[in-house]
Amino acid sequence: MSLILAVETSCDETAVAILRDGSNLLASEVWSQAEVHSAYGGVVPEVASRNHLAALPTVARRALERAGVGIAEIDAFAATVGPGLPTALLVGVAYAKALAVGCGRPFLAMNHIEGHLFSPFFGEPFVPPHLGLVVSGGHTLLVDVASFSERRVLGSTVDDAAGEAFDKVAKLLGLGYPGGVEIERLAREGDARRYVFPRSMRHSGDFQFSFSGLKTAVRYLLERERVHGPDVAASFQAAVVEVLAEKAVAAALACGRDLIAVSGGVSSNAALQAALSEAAARHRISVRLAPRELRTDNAAMIAYVAALRAGGGGDSLATDVEPSLDLERFAAPG
Ligand code: KG4
Ligand code: ZN
Repeated sequence: MSLILAVETSCDETAVAILRDGSNLLASEVWSQAEVHSAYGGVVPEVASRNHLAALPTVARRALERAGVGIAEIDAFAATVGPGLPTALLVGVAYAKALAVGCGRPFLAMNHIEGHLFSPFFGEPFVPPHLGLVVSGGHTLLVDVASFSERRVLGSTVDDAAGEAFDKVAKLLGLGYPGGVEIERLAREGDARRYVFPRSMRHSGDFQFSFSGLKTAVRYLLERERVHGPDVAASFQAAVVEVLAEKAVAAALACGRDLIAVSGGVSSNAALQAALSEAAARHRISVRLAPRELRTDNAAMIAYVAALRAGGGGDSLATDVEPSLDLERFAAPG
């Protein structure tokens, strides 16, 4: 399966990518609906679905043009079937299935988190053993990875995802959506030691996370006193990245891994990168990031995992979307 076209519509990015031989990225088109949703302060599922439906033909045409290939040359059509917003997933999955039927090629049902998890190795023929940290708007996961097909989730968040915490606190501070970038910018002028926020579950002895108490602590502080915005942003950010970095390193040590791979939108955060590198270096653990444009949602990472999984004839066209799909299962095979 040398030429894969992948569609990603699990949240508010409408994305199509074309990948040759698992490593040669011919096109990766991403149309972000962030601006559409920013008016609502978050993603509105029905608005996302309608925009996916309207945008997909254009985004796909652009991808084919950029790649310089005709639709008839595509060997397989992949789409994210989960996890994600049900009606948003439906649009991309129906689109990819229709192309697969029209072109008489296989349909590949892919897992969104798997795409994030392996994005730091984009283009490589094998995924090496490592400890994966996925930090996105929807997920916070620590995963012990022995190989592409052998992965074990060690822990996740019991409430908000890391990116969600950034988005919610940004909203409290009156910043725009998505909030991660805005908080990071504001935090640069702030003092991270000015306010002491809880480091939830830091000493819980497991690999679980919790970020909703932190968000509540910020809300109480804002209700109680006049604050200095940059100091709140910096102190909040420090609380999040400290726990992420400490637990990722502890998990790598527990599993005997000497490599931590970080993915998802929050992995672009420079404070997180610094905290991780510092904590990891103390134990001679290396840190690997995904290429910048593959950190937030995109279809290139979906095409890559489709290429890694390739073999077998593809998935049944009866495959449904799986809004709560987890990482330990492959996307529903036929
Ligand atoms: O990976 P992604 O597209 O989300 C999901 O798949 O769910 O990442 C989006 C998330 C948002 O929550 C956004 O606020 C956060 O990543 N984010 C950041 C930064 N850039 C994006 N969070 C902290 N610092 C950043 N620089
Ligand atoms: Zn994502």
